[in-house]
Amino acid sequence: LRPWSEADAEAMLPLFSDAAVMRFWSTPPVVSLDLMRAQICRSVAASPDLHAAWLVALKPTGAAIGFVNYHHREIGNRRLEIGYLIGSGHWRQGFAAEAIRALIAHCFDALFTHRIEATVDPANVASIHLLERLGFRCEGGPMRARLWTSNGRSLDAMMYALLKPEWEANRR
Ligand SMILES: CC(C)(COP(=O)(O)OP(=O)(O)OC[C@H]1O[C@@H](n2cnc3c(N)ncnc32)[C@H](O)[C@@H]1OP(=O)(O)O)[C@@H](O)C(=O)NCCC(=O)NCCS
Repeated sequence: LRPWSEADAEAMLPLFSDAAVMRFWSTPPVVSLDLMRAQICRSVAASPDLHAAWLVALKPTGAAIGFVNYHHREIGNRRLEIGYLIGSGHWRQGFAAEAIRALIAHCFDALFTHRIEATVDPANVASIHLLERLGFRCEGGPMRARLWTSNGRSLDAMMYALLKPEWEANRR
């Protein structure tokens, strides 16, 4: 994982513009390099008290193949939410699991988070299986119209969460 910057817009656009990758994302596909740059700039400018994002890059080449973030962080409540995507050419090779494990470790160990949440479209089977494999528990849903997207759709969501003691127990 490495922090992203405006210079990564060209590498990220093919992922964020791919309808298959963005099918369950909370915002529509990104349609231009300028919009991709703007999204990265907003992310980079955000306070780590609320949000931070990293690229998932291949170790041998440094090529960017995905993205992970945390958002909606509430320091006082020691909770945050995570988001993640991997380019469709690299699905089912263990990259999301590896990247999210590193993100989780950072959130629990460096940010003193106690609870990590992920909200998922009930039809997003890949993401639900991934979360369950990482030890997240389903706590409820579908929550109706949990998100109102910029293209005028409302999205339902399942609530998944992982608590630090559960993660620690699985580390042993
Ligand atoms: C969800 C997503 C990140 C998974 O990425 P990935 O790199 O393919 O996942 P991994 O290879 O690390 O898979 C880990 C586990 O997730 C589950 N999984 C991943 N893809 C799956 C699929 N298509 N169907 C069922 N289970 C799947 C499996 O349990 C898998 O373990 P296994 O391969 O040993 O069975 C990827 O499909 C994606 O980017 N989707 C679009 C973006 C998105 O929906 N993000 C989540 C928003 S909540």
